[in-house]
Amino acid sequence: METKRSSFTGKIGFVLAAAGSAVGLGNIWRFPYLAAKYGGGVFLLVYIALSVTFGFSLMIAEIAIGRKTGKSAVMAFGELDKRFSAVGFIASLVPMLILPYYSVIGGWVLKYFAGFVSGGAAEMANDSYFGGYISSVGQPLFWFALFIGITAIVVLFGVEKGIEKVSKVMMPILVALTLFIALYTIFAVDGAWEGVKYYLMPDFSHFSLMTVVAATGQLFYSMSLAMGIMITYGSYMKKDISIEKSAKQIEIFDTGVAFLAGLMIIPAVFAFSGGDESALGQGPGLMFVTLPKVFEAMPGGTVIGAVFFFMVLLAALTSSISLMETIVSIFMDKFRINRRISCLIVLAFSVLLGLPSSLGYSVWGNVKILGMQMLDLFDFLSNSIMMPIIALVTCIFVGFILKPKAVIDEVTVNDTPFKWRGLFSVVIRYIAPVCILAILISSVLSAFGIITI
Ligand code: PHE
Repeated sequence: METKRSSFTGKIGFVLAAAGSAVGLGNIWRFPYLAAKYGGGVFLLVYIALSVTFGFSLMIAEIAIGRKTGKSAVMAFGELDKRFSAVGFIASLVPMLILPYYSVIGGWVLKYFAGFVSGGAAEMANDSYFGGYISSVGQPLFWFALFIGITAIVVLFGVEKGIEKVSKVMMPILVALTLFIALYTIFAVDGAWEGVKYYLMPDFSHFSLMTVVAATGQLFYSMSLAMGIMITYGSYMKKDISIEKSAKQIEIFDTGVAFLAGLMIIPAVFAFSGGDESALGQGPGLMFVTLPKVFEAMPGGTVIGAVFFFMVLLAALTSSISLMETIVSIFMDKFRINRRISCLIVLAFSVLLGLPSSLGYSVWGNVKILGMQMLDLFDFLSNSIMMPIIALVTCIFVGFILKPKAVIDEVTVNDTPFKWRGLFSVVIRYIAPVCILAILISSVLSAFGIITI
């Protein structure tokens, strides 16, 4: 921990590590299916609007809190104000909830990569393949265990430098490939234009409160906000680096990848479902069902598919590593245990918690809580309940207890400019808390079936 505090040597190191955590399955798998389900163009518009206001302000606040205190989330809030120490504690529970189910999906990606490499591309393009696969028991568990095992090994060895180098090369390739696949679908596959229109032209009749709820949850998730990660990363950041510029770069990168992923998947759904809109509501399976079909239709698609799933795998791994690293370092700090033991404990409970998420598609398919199966439940609890609560408390804390000035002082240390400070203060004090509260109430009410949104 201590040695790591100095490990971000420059701006690139910080931005890359933060972007490595931010860009992951959230962008490539989760964003497109939410955008498809909750309104297409309207969702995109709402998401971008939230990203330059909420996302920007919260990201700045978290990085500044981390850098100011030099502490990770569990300790940072308490250090600034004893009454708020619980927030840090709750924030560190979020990665513990996310890591297990994230790894279940990571396992699906690993399986698809292996499938493309071993010549199973045609089989995977079959409509019922994905459903059949996740509703089997042994295989998904095996790939889940392998994914989380790889994550644990990397965290155990702490080869962060390696990961950083890998992301530097891989991330641009991922962006280029995504763009290529999107363009291929749009121009070479019949019926894709309808999807482009659905995705890029906001149709306000598709707008609902759920568009905003889903977009906000996705924003926190995608930018790794409201779970202490950016606080911890901020504590590793040097004083002469501009927080504002870094936050903007992370945001542009993160939103850019999500945007391209949507452009790659949504037109493909339209093309392959023959314009049947119900295909948009498919949810988590979207990437795994439509993309193999695009690859099947493409000359050389098997190779491109293999390379693509390999890239997604790396993006997922850099994120799962950041999740596990955060939990492992919290355990090391709190319980004064060494990295190896901490890693083993985290691995063991993540496997345990991941089991119901994986089995929820097969033998435990009947176990439903609040009408959701386990993976959806974990996703809902972390994204729609805990993260908004943490974000709300962070806003109130920064806006009224610590005061925006403290964050502004930290951002402008060494005379670094802070251009959007006015926006920051207004959003963090008034706009964000009111909206987040409204979102929180509506998602709780809808989970209990009191309202439908
Ligand atoms: N932001 C990551 C993604 O978009 C997921 C993640 C969440 C990573 C929380 C770390 C912490 O996939």
